[in-house]
Amino acid sequence: MDKPLVVVNFKTYSSASASTADVLAEKMEQFSDSNVRMVAVVSAFDLHSISNSSNNLEVWSQHLDPVGQGSFTGWLEPETAISRGAQGTIINHAEHKVSLEHVKKLMEQLPEGFPVCACAADVEEAKALAELGPTFIAVEPPELIGGDISVTTADPSIVSDTVAAVKSVNSNVRILCGAGVKNGKDVSKAIELGAEGVLLASGVTKADDALSVLQDLVSSI
Ligand code: G3P
Repeated sequence: MDKPLVVVNFKTYSSASASTADVLAEKMEQFSDSNVRMVAVVSAFDLHSISNSSNNLEVWSQHLDPVGQGSFTGWLEPETAISRGAQGTIINHAEHKVSLEHVKKLMEQLPEGFPVCACAADVEEAKALAELGPTFIAVEPPELIGGDISVTTADPSIVSDTVAAVKSVNSNVRILCGAGVKNGKDVSKAIELGAEGVLLASGVTKADDALSVLQDLVSSI
């Protein structure tokens, strides 16, 4: 198996936006040579600054739109995102839902091999997304997002069922899970359930000591 992933979504937290995003990314970069694939999913505003100052940290966009360069006001146009440092993207996050058509068109537009992590609220949505062949599917029950109980504790079967369902559709798609993930125990449980890593936010972005949380997250891998 490739390195397990710890994917931290900065969302629009004040503790992970603009200058504080740079600081958090620096902390994450300290783990870039470890046994995990550490990914920072940052605001489009912060892509350039973070990718410019990090040599080793993988940086993804939080969303992209399937539009070209030209007459498209306010959209997140992929070619410019890539030139500004996006090395991957999440799409269809519970907080930024899009249609299957959006995901499909976006994937057609992106360069071959560009990592796309499509988020799914449940097994059915994960299966539908798997048909499109994204690099990753992250299953995240919306009601657990931002909460204190990890999906791996509150609803472990959604993780294992998603793994089984997605693999039955497309065995190349890799599965992450998220919502309420906070510590290394949650990460090892995710891997035990068949996921290849976690997608999390508040456990890191709202932590008093993000470095210790990051250390704990990678501790059991
Ligand atoms: O994208 C990650 C996310 O939606 C989970 O958020 O705060 O529950 O880790 P959180």
